[in-house]
Amino acid sequence: MKNIGIITTGGDCSGINATIQRIVTGARIRGWRVFGIIDGMDGLENGNIIEINTNNFPVEAMHLAGSMLQNGNPYKNNFEKAIRNNKLKQFNSQLKKTLHQLGFDALILIGGNGSLSLAWATRDIYSDLQLICIPKTIDMDIPMTDSTIGFNTAVQQLTNYCDQLLMTARSHHRWFVVQAMGRDCGRLALYSGIAVGATAILIPEIKFTTEDLIKHIQTSGSDYGVVLVSEGISLRGHSGQPADMISRELNKANISNRPVFPEHFQRGGSTTASDRMLASGMAACALNAIENNETYVMTAVIDGKCKTVSLSDVISSGKMMPDPNIDCLQISNSYIQPDDLLLQTAINMGIYIGNVK
Ligand code: F6P
Repeated sequence: MKNIGIITTGGDCSGINATIQRIVTGARIRGWRVFGIIDGMDGLENGNIIEINTNNFPVEAMHLAGSMLQNGNPYKNNFEKAIRNNKLKQFNSQLKKTLHQLGFDALILIGGNGSLSLAWATRDIYSDLQLICIPKTIDMDIPMTDSTIGFNTAVQQLTNYCDQLLMTARSHHRWFVVQAMGRDCGRLALYSGIAVGATAILIPEIKFTTEDLIKHIQTSGSDYGVVLVSEGISLRGHSGQPADMISRELNKANISNRPVFPEHFQRGGSTTASDRMLASGMAACALNAIENNETYVMTAVIDGKCKTVSLSDVISSGKMMPDPNIDCLQISNSYIQPDDLLLQTAINMGIYIGNVK
């Protein structure tokens, strides 16, 4: 018999509950007990846990967005706050102490880029147990995995959002400049832009010019459509929201448009079947990793197969750059590469994406 803890940290997304539900179901057939930590690191510091099972975390919860365990209250304790207040050492030692008292055999951490980086940076906290990470993020910017929980649902949400704009765009001969989330990674904008048939997709990884964008729109053969703009793009001489910047440039060229911001709508929505299948695969992989006595690993999808990779490799691979919000830590990234086949797909569909060779 094993006791497993589950913690969800960082930004939420759809697919987290499906992952937890599948872990609970898989643990039941192994005769293991599962405990959910409430409110992320604040809950871990205070030992705020509940036992979860297939009765109080039933299969109907699989489609729900967000995290039923909750990821943390920004005004309560977390690593960022501890770092800001110069109390990281005390915070870490309290987390370690609580984990020791809870006596888990393993902790499954469902987190994004920042959470994984933090888990590695503070790895001593988990030295008494097995630490298994499951990657979740709508940004899909985690190295060494071809999929992350929540990305597919976010693409669906953003695509639905843009679909809803097209008829009003057509009715008013107007363009919508839609700002996608994704931090510095353009993947969410690129996938949804292709799915919706956007006229242009601007992402941080590819250089573009507003002159080329305007020319493309003016010669597109249409007087309405969607321009998808990733939140990570910047434009020389402009500040503020990227969609506003692009909108202003289009106005100058007399292209009627409105900037719109789907914001956290992209993080909600009923979890897609694809994300639920990914959640099942990653949950199974995490449980197998516990059985195999693995630790400091992340579940990953590589060439269609779910397997574990070492957390240290995840953190050290890809381009590393400082996280501006947490100055002593780093985040890793795996952004769109110039040879990404989807860029060619976009070009073949006549979508303006900037200067791709
Ligand atoms: O990392 C996920 C994400 O949704 C990003 O795409 C976005 O920039 C950020 O989180 C928004 O964070 P918050 O919910 O704190 O505003």
